[in-house]
Amino acid sequence: MSLKMISGRIGILAALACAAVVAWLAQARPGHSDEAVTDPFLGQAEAIDEGEMTYRSKCMGCHGKAGSRGPNLFATKLTDEQFLETVINGRQNTQMPAFGLRLSPDDVWKVHAFVKSRKGL
Ligand code: HEC
Repeated sequence: MSLKMISGRIGILAALACAAVVAWLAQARPGHSDEAVTDPFLGQAEAIDEGEMTYRSKCMGCHGKAGSRGPNLFATKLTDEQFLETVINGRQNTQMPAFGLRLSPDDVWKVHAFVKSRKGL
């Protein structure tokens, strides 16, 4: 066996080892690979009622028909995850406040479940 062949084999082994590590890393993070984070309260009547109360008290002033500052949440095209992220962190340099200290992620999911449950108020 020539030296060239040996080093070629080592190269292949190293590449295989790398692929194995990458596959292992992808597996070791369940739920974080391709799976999207989704609203666990969609379609649940009680959660939707609670979400409506939060919407009316904390969001409608800006997002409702009379409030003209924010977009219509009933027509949002954001994914569940983007919706949650936007409400928790707010939108910098806009009037959309960060609710991270005032609403729990579950509270936000419930508002989301509410706006997804109908076309408007
Ligand atoms: C003080 C006014 C105000 C309040 C209160 C407010 N928002 Fe907003 N919101 C905005 C504005 C303005 C925008 C648009 C920001 C931009 O220009 O990107 C926005 C954007 C959003 C978006 C992004 C919509 C999209 O389709 O891109 C979401 C989601 C959202 N708000 C959810 C909420 C929720 C839920 C509440 C109540 C818990 C809330 N907001 C309360 C002003 C407000």
